[in-house]
Amino acid sequence: MKKVLITGGAGFIGSTVASALLDRGITPVVLDDLSKGRAEFVEDRVFYQGDIADAALLDRIFAEHPDIEATVHCAAKIVVPESVAKPLYYYRENVAKTVELLDSLQRLGCTRVVFSSSASIYAPTPDARVDESCPVDANSPYARTKQMMEQVLQDWTRGEGAECQRVIALRYFNPIGADPQLRTGLQDLNPTHALGKLIEAHTTGAPFTVTGVDWETRDGSGIRDYVHVQDLAAAHVAALLRFDGVIAPGAADRYRVINVGTGDGTTVRELITAFEQAVGARLDVREAGPRPGDVIGCYAAVDTARELLDWQPRRGIAEGVADALAWRAKWAARLGA
Ligand SMILES: NC(=O)c1ccc[n+]([C@@H]2O[C@H](COP(=O)([O-])OP(=O)(O)OC[C@H]3O[C@@H](n4cnc5c(N)ncnc54)[C@H](O)[C@@H]3O)[C@@H](O)[C@H]2O)c1
Repeated sequence: MKKVLITGGAGFIGSTVASALLDRGITPVVLDDLSKGRAEFVEDRVFYQGDIADAALLDRIFAEHPDIEATVHCAAKIVVPESVAKPLYYYRENVAKTVELLDSLQRLGCTRVVFSSSASIYAPTPDARVDESCPVDANSPYARTKQMMEQVLQDWTRGEGAECQRVIALRYFNPIGADPQLRTGLQDLNPTHALGKLIEAHTTGAPFTVTGVDWETRDGSGIRDYVHVQDLAAAHVAALLRFDGVIAPGAADRYRVINVGTGDGTTVRELITAFEQAVGARLDVREAGPRPGDVIGCYAAVDTARELLDWQPRRGIAEGVADALAWRAKWAARLGA
């Protein structure tokens, strides 16, 4: 594979995927509206600024790059509280615009798609471990857009004359870290996820609050599966390079879901310990009840990724913490923050 379109390729994950492709000699062609993506992340890359629903722009991209062989569809609005406040905006941006994008891809003959899905669509399970056959039951408008997009994509592979249309949906767990070469990372200096809050507590001396301490986990705190974003990016490269092996052209079932996590659950308290070890300092840790919408969380069964993609995570939480901190320092300096 020589060239791949990446929607949302100026964002956190898409830019890391683009770097991983470049490292493998594959040219990423980035389409991003820069609503959240950063121009700095694409300044040395083939880049089109615009909307995934802009059919004329897709025509232009494929006219200028007829050798694009697949699309990685990362573009989406991703902020859960915003999706609660503005559900129609999320359904339009994520679901309706994905329909438009697929229409363009089908017209232009680019029918191999790797989709950024999310573990947040899984229904809770008694032991928090989820494999790809577990039921889905998304619990926020954002997560429901992901669940709906999966349904749209699956139906797209089943439509009339859809023999060429094939989709691998990668269900990401909790990405952390940054590109180890520090080409890109998170756009926000103070992200609101647990690792972001730990970094904020460490850099400002403010307390870190464990929200929810009565979950049915080994220490009462919520559980997640923290996967290094570089490992996540490597899973995309593997999915692209092995695409025809995962879903053969003309196969009866042309939609495949693959979990991308580490296979290990980490509780919030364990994350704090790992963070303190990585930075060599203790934090002021407090406890509080769960916030509205909080869930016990889940971690991945990763046998499918191992079998189909020959992929396994190579980096642990300590590297995720170290790369996140190094990126934050570099990015803050660049922003003059
Ligand atoms: N970050 C996570 O924890 C996580 C977890 C699971 C799944 N995902 C999925 O991974 C994908 C990438 O997430 P991320 O963390 O990199 O987010 P991000 O916001 O950094 O990246 C998304 C990118 O899409 C672009 N974009 C949004 N709407 C667009 C549109 N209509 N047209 C063109 N570009 C548009 C944004 O400018 C941004 O650069 C998303 O689909 C998200 O749902 C993320």
